[in-house]
Amino acid sequence: MFPPKDITKRDYISLNIQESATSVRGTSRSLWRQWNQLSRFQRNILYFIVGTIILIIFYLLPGDSKSGILDESDYNNIEVVQDTLKYEKAIEDIVVDNVNQDHKDGGEVIEEPEFQPEINQADDDQIGEPPQPKPNTLKFNGPQNSRQKAVVAAFKHSWNGYKEFAWGHDTVKPISRKYHEWFGLGLTIVDSLDTMYIMGLNSEFLEAKAWVDKSLVFTLNKDVNLFEVTIRVLGGLLSAYHLSGDKIFLNKATQLGDRLMPAFSTSSGVPYSDVNLGTNAAHGPKWGPDSSTSEVTSIQLEFRDLSRSTGEPKYEEAVAKVSEHVHQLEKYDGLVPIFINANTGQFREFATITLGARGDSYYEYLLKQWLQTGKTINYLRDDYLLGISGTQKHLVKRTASNKYLFIAELVGATKEVKPKMDHLTCYLGGTLALGVHHGLSSEHMDLANELVKTCYQTYAIHPTFLAPEITYFNIQNVKDEKPMDMYVKIHDAHNLLRPEFIESLFYMWYFTGNKTFQDWGWQIFQAFENYTKVEKGYTSIGNVRNVLHTRQQDMTESFWFAETLKYLYLLFDDTRQLIDLDKWIFNSEGHPLPIYES
Ligand SMILES: *[C@@H]1O[C@H](CO)[C@@H](O)[C@H](O)[C@H]1NC(C)=O
Ligand SMILES: *[C@@H]1O[C@H](CO)[C@@H](O)[C@H](O)[C@H]1NC(C)=O
Repeated sequence: MFPPKDITKRDYISLNIQESATSVRGTSRSLWRQWNQLSRFQRNILYFIVGTIILIIFYLLPGDSKSGILDESDYNNIEVVQDTLKYEKAIEDIVVDNVNQDHKDGGEVIEEPEFQPEINQADDDQIGEPPQPKPNTLKFNGPQNSRQKAVVAAFKHSWNGYKEFAWGHDTVKPISRKYHEWFGLGLTIVDSLDTMYIMGLNSEFLEAKAWVDKSLVFTLNKDVNLFEVTIRVLGGLLSAYHLSGDKIFLNKATQLGDRLMPAFSTSSGVPYSDVNLGTNAAHGPKWGPDSSTSEVTSIQLEFRDLSRSTGEPKYEEAVAKVSEHVHQLEKYDGLVPIFINANTGQFREFATITLGARGDSYYEYLLKQWLQTGKTINYLRDDYLLGISGTQKHLVKRTASNKYLFIAELVGATKEVKPKMDHLTCYLGGTLALGVHHGLSSEHMDLANELVKTCYQTYAIHPTFLAPEITYFNIQNVKDEKPMDMYVKIHDAHNLLRPEFIESLFYMWYFTGNKTFQDWGWQIFQAFENYTKVEKGYTSIGNVRNVLHTRQQDMTESFWFAETLKYLYLLFDDTRQLIDLDKWIFNSEGHPLPIYES
C-alpha cells in the first residue's frame, strides 16, 4: 500500500529542508541588525535590485522548470504528492471507522476500539511502517453459571494433564501420560490461548504466553501441513493478539506467516499442502500430487488478518489469488471435488464431492470471508449461495423411516449418491444460521434446523450419547419393514472429541435463544464427562456404541481445547453477549478474528 521507495523520497526531502533551515538560523540575527541600520532610500534600492534579479533569472531559465511541479516531466514530485494524499485518506478512513464503532457500541462487554493517535501514525510512516489500528481487545469475567463452571473445570483438568506430561509438545496422551509430536509447535498451547482468555483463566494464559514468547520457534527442519498450521497456530496467535492486544502474538504470527509463504510458489498460485518451516521447501502430500480443496480455500481468513494487522499486503494477496482462481473453475452446481492440483490449478476429475472431510470449509470460508471483508466481495457470497443450492439439489437426502435430513456425498464419474455423513459436516448448521443472520435466504434456517436435529440423533442413538466419526443412513424403503435410520461401520465408531456439532449448537443458541440447543449441548458435555474423562485429562474413544467397551485411545487433540470446550463455554453463556458475532468471525479452528469494513 505504501511502497518503501516513496517513503525514502519523503525522508530525503524533509532532511534537505532541515539542513538549510539550520544554516540560515546561525547568521540571521546579524543580518537583521545591519538591515535596520540602512536608510529607507538604501532599502528601496536594495528591494529594486533584488526584484530585478529575480525577474531576470525567471526569464533566462529554460521553459521546463518554469511551470513547476505541475509539469509532467517532473513526474517524481507528482508521485510524492499523490502518495501523501493516499496516506491522509487512510488516516481519514481509520478515524471514520472509529466514530462509527463508537456509535454502534452499546454493550458493556465490548471495549471501545482504540486507535493510535494520528501523530504516531505519521511517525510510523516515516520509519517505514504503514498505520496500524490497535486491536479491538475484549475483557472477560470468567464463568457465570454452573454449566460454564463445569466446562472450565473440564478445561483445567485437561490442561493440567497436558502441563504435567506434554508441556511444550503438540498433544498429550493422557492415559500413557506421554506426549505426541506432530509439527513440533506446541499446538495445544497455541490452540488454547484464546479459550483461556475467554474463560478468564488468567494465570494459565500468562504461563502460555510466556512459553510462546520464549520457546515457540519456527525453525524446525520438519514438514508441516499448511492448512492445519494456518488454522491452529496462525489463527490461534492472531486471535490471542486481537483479544489481548499483546504484540508478542502478532510478532510470532508474522514470523510464522513468512515461513508459510513458500507454499504459494506454485505455477497456479494454489498452494502445496506441505511446507518445511526450517528449509522453506514446499511440496504436495506424500500420498499424491493434489492438495485438498478445503485446505487451500480455508487459510484466507488468517492470512488476510495477518495482512490487515501488520499492514503488509503480501499474505492477503497470496490467498486472495487462490480464492479468485477457484472461483473461476467450473463446478458442479456450485459444488467442488475434494482434490485440486497445485501445479495445474485444476480439480481432480471425478474426485468425491462432500461437505465432510476435504470439502467442508470451502463452503464455510466463502461465507466467512464475505463477512470478514464487510460484505464487499460479492463473488464470495454468490459462490456460497451456489454451493448451498447445489447441496440442496444434489446432496440433501432423507432417511426412509423417520425422514431425517442429512447431507450425502457424490462419488466417482457417475456421481453416485453415497448415503454417508461425516461428523465434520455437522458444522454446516451453524454456518447456515450465520448466513441467515447476515441477510441470506431464510430457507437456509430450515435446512439448519433439520440438519442440527439429525446431528443430535447421531449422538442420542448411542448408549454413550456420543457421535461416531461417520454415520451411514438408510434411504431405501424395504417392504413391510422399518429400517433403522442410521448405522455405523465398525471402523467409523470412534469419537475424537470433535467440536462441529457443539459449534452449530452455539450458533443456533446465539441466533435463536432457544434453550433446547443449550440442553442438547449439556447432555453431550455430560457424555464426555462419563466416557472420555480419565485421571489425567480427556481422551478420544474408539467406540461410541458400547459403554462397556469404549476403547479409550489415549489422545487429546488440540481442537478439544480450541473448539469443543470453547464452544461449550459460549453455548452456556446465557447473555449471548460474550463475543459479538457482528464484529467477530470464528476461523475453522474456533479462533475469533475481527470483521473489517471492507
Ligand atoms: C427449539 O428448538 C427445538 C429443536 O429444534 C424445537 O423442537 C422447538 O420447537 C424449539 N422451540 C421453540 C420455542 O422454537
Ligand atoms: C452420565 O452420568 C450421569 C451420572 O452417572 C448420569 O446421570 C447421566 O445420565 C450420564 N449421561 C450420559 C449421557 O451417559
